[in-house]
Amino acid sequence: MKTLELRNRWTLVTGASSGLGLEMARAIARDHGGHVLGVARRRDRLEALCEELRTRHGVQADCIVADLSRPADVERVFTEATRGRQLHGALLNAGVTYWGDAVKLDWGAFQTMLDTNVTSLVRLSGLLAPHLAAHDTQGGMMLVSSVAGLIPVPYQAAYSGTKAFVLGYGQALAQELRPTGVSVTVFAPGGISTELMENSGLAQRFKTGDLGMMTAPECASHALRAFTRRKALSIPGLLNQTLALAARLLPRGFLAQRTAALYRPGP
Ligand SMILES: NC(=O)c1ccc[n+]([C@@H]2O[C@H](COP(=O)([O-])OP(=O)(O)OC[C@H]3O[C@@H](n4cnc5c(N)ncnc54)[C@H](OP(=O)(O)O)[C@@H]3O)[C@@H](O)[C@H]2O)c1
Repeated sequence: MKTLELRNRWTLVTGASSGLGLEMARAIARDHGGHVLGVARRRDRLEALCEELRTRHGVQADCIVADLSRPADVERVFTEATRGRQLHGALLNAGVTYWGDAVKLDWGAFQTMLDTNVTSLVRLSGLLAPHLAAHDTQGGMMLVSSVAGLIPVPYQAAYSGTKAFVLGYGQALAQELRPTGVSVTVFAPGGISTELMENSGLAQRFKTGDLGMMTAPECASHALRAFTRRKALSIPGLLNQTLALAARLLPRGFLAQRTAALYRPGP
């Protein structure tokens, strides 16, 4: 398969209002000269991003304000994204997490997380696959999983489950789409200093500058490299790659036990 050429072509980025998605959007415009279609709930952030990308990098940029935990919004994102516009890439990155006891996780919060991290991603990838294949440029998508999808993470049990789903689904989908020429890259980063860490409280435990913690721009550059090279699975950073190797070699029960010690809330 040829590498993905993003220049002067549109890439959809979900979760483009902050963190990894924001930095991937910037990297597409700055490093690849690509047009960006950002999706998230916060309109002000998306509009500021579009303005920045247009003025600094001379690319086209547009946004769709949508809540991806709502099925109707997910359908609308696909319709609006592809109305009169050919997408070449899609980075399905939007996601939420929590930190705490699985049995105390609010039921509504769990369903929102499942709808955002899993359901919207399955629906959008299913709708986008024929669209990306239809064009002679044969585009690609990237699904954002996590090292928490490779290793069971106690106190993020349900989040870890959503990311394991993304990993398995994405790797299987990549094989199904091979004959169409559309690539599927699963990206599985470890800790990134973003709002997700702040919002979940995890930033109190894992701090910027700690071993293995990445900045969002650094992580975005790994992600774009893997995406444009159409890699099937990308795990950025030596520590995360070592954890991935451990996940293949060591018993999952042992890994879960060690991870529990790291993630158990409290002093
Ligand atoms: N940070 C980490 O340590 C880490 C590690 C591994 C994997 N990841 C994964 O990386 C991805 C990006 O996370 P991040 O760290 O960059 O977090 P972030 O800074 O909190 O960004 C999350 C993005 O998702 C969007 N989003 C959340 N819920 C949404 C919804 N219902 N509808 C539409 N958009 C929604 C947010 O936008 P709005 O709030 O404006 O809607 C935001 O743009 C996630 O899938 C996460 O699981 C993160």
